Amino acid sequence: MFDFTYHNPTKILFGKDAIERIREEIPSGAHVLMTYGGGSIHRNGVYERVKAALQGYRVTEFGGIEPNPQYATLMRAVELGRQAGVDFLLAVGGGSVLDGTKFIAAAIPFAGETWDIVEKRLEVREAVPLGAVLTLPGTGSEMNGWAVISHAEKRAKLAFYSPLVYPRFSALDPQTTFSLPPRQTANGIVDAFAHVMEQYVTYPVNAALQDRIAEAILVTLIEQAPKVMQNPTDYDARANIMWCATVALNGIVGVGVPQDWATHAIGHEITALYGIDHARTLALVLPAVLEFKREQKREKLLQYAERVWNLREGDEQSRIAGAIQRTRAFFESLDIPTRLSAYGIGAEAIPAIVRQLEAHGQTALGEHGDITPDVAAKILERCL
Ligand code: NZQ
Ligand code: ZN
Repeated sequence: MFDFTYHNPTKILFGKDAIERIREEIPSGAHVLMTYGGGSIHRNGVYERVKAALQGYRVTEFGGIEPNPQYATLMRAVELGRQAGVDFLLAVGGGSVLDGTKFIAAAIPFAGETWDIVEKRLEVREAVPLGAVLTLPGTGSEMNGWAVISHAEKRAKLAFYSPLVYPRFSALDPQTTFSLPPRQTANGIVDAFAHVMEQYVTYPVNAALQDRIAEAILVTLIEQAPKVMQNPTDYDARANIMWCATVALNGIVGVGVPQDWATHAIGHEITALYGIDHARTLALVLPAVLEFKREQKREKLLQYAERVWNLREGDEQSRIAGAIQRTRAFFESLDIPTRLSAYGIGAEAIPAIVRQLEAHGQTALGEHGDITPDVAAKILERCL
């Protein structure tokens, strides 16, 4: 196991009254900027519950943060927050609203060019404190310090990290996810699945507990997914999915182990160029990365085959192929295609995606840093 330091400052409020509990966490007298997305919270009752919980606070609202949150939109919120003099941010929505709000938190007190926080990853020295009410499990943003921000004119979708933008608290009420359309439910499951795979299917370092936690999350997602797809108001299944997605990317699976974020890096470029949902890009790229890297990832793929898919018979190559095939089939069972052709995208797209990776310095991906642009092109050929 590698050496590590682990600190996660986010308090989790989980359960049916999680939203009502947020007022215990926001400093009294705070002027709160409440941020949200395109309106789902107006249709599922979350808006009213949050407003009731915020009674007695000064509240300024900013709605309209879109999926893959856009820099231009977020800068309007930054201006509003600066003018209103807010001193606490409350993000209410999915990963996009949470990520966007992390950027707003860092940008409000930032003196320079705010896009540099993302593009140049300038150090964030100060941020407005933030909390979250999560309505879409998947990204893990509710319990980490990462945010992914898009810039339409620059055709860029880039991540930044700061310990200062971990939510102070996140309220997770599985009931808020009952209203998710099947597509978003499925996206969240696949996103969480990929997060675990990218911290688990690398090479062994004898991190026995991290491996077991990773496998537990994967098995739980596989087991619970059909339940939420068939019965969107199954509270227990929704709760299990929600907690899986949080633990998948709150750092606990990834401490002390090698990681391979090539799938996410390539996926972000596909979203930036073609607007395909984040999780759908992962379903395209992940099986191809596993296939292409099956020799380097051999031991962990065999472990994955045995412990997650119960594949114990046959030779090594057939067990590995079986595990990758089951991974694809799992994504497809959620109605998420695993081939670019399903989106009408052909081989002509590959050079453009690879150029984007180069432009963003994503030229040494994977746990060995050996996924160069040429290798990424070969992986993309397997996604066609
Ligand atoms: O905008 P509204 O009207 O709220 O609707 C949203 C949106 O259209 C809807 N939705 C959310 N909760 C709902 C709901 N509809 C009905 N009922 C509910 N309870 O779902 C749509 C998609 O929302 P979005 O927030 O975009 O989805 P997701 O949570 O998948 O977030 C994706 C973003 O997170 C980034 C992605 O790159 C992408 O930009 N990621 C962030 C990460 C992080 N911070 O650690 C890691 C991830 O790998 C990922 O990259
Ligand atoms: Zn993701």
